[in-house]
Amino acid sequence: MRRATRGCGCVKTAIYPGSFDPITLGHLNIIKRAAVCFDKLIVCVLINSDKHGGLFTPEERADLIRRVVAKLPNVEVDCSATLLAEYARQKKACTLVKGLRAVSDYENELQMALINRKLNPRLETMFLPSSAKYTYVSSSVVKEMARYGADLSDFVPREIIDDVNAKMKSRRDG
Ligand code: PNS
Repeated sequence: MRRATRGCGCVKTAIYPGSFDPITLGHLNIIKRAAVCFDKLIVCVLINSDKHGGLFTPEERADLIRRVVAKLPNVEVDCSATLLAEYARQKKACTLVKGLRAVSDYENELQMALINRKLNPRLETMFLPSSAKYTYVSSSVVKEMARYGADLSDFVPREIIDDVNAKMKSRRDG
């Protein structure tokens, strides 16, 4: 369902940032729940400098996400190599959406939220608790499962299962 813009004419834009290497069912669940709260949701693939040697390039990750969210009319997909706070400023977004799977996620996410608000004082971070059935799902788990040829259907959207398996195979063979 397309959401109408607000009476004032402004569009309430939020950003869902992440590495998404690759997008998981947990990410998709957060995207769907966040998309109904804002006029526009931008899912943005960014660089996490703590994570090296990704499976997919940022552009490939964004293409996979685009395929998965194709039917969500107010969701856009992008990738950027800038600071998230700066990207939000460029996009006139005032809200970052983050999913929390467990208390252990919170410490790092809180620090990032505070840094992002320091860099861009208009930027608030909203945390959505992960749905219970996805708390164990992460991109790292997906890669580990794919490495051993396990069934990925409980972990990633079905549209991208073949891509993940093919990429892992090309890594193994190459
Ligand atoms: O899915 P991830 O790896 O937890 O996402 C982390 C990500 C990519 C959102 C974060 O590393 C990020 O914002 N990177 C962009 C660079 C930046 O703004 N760094 C400062 C954040 S403290």
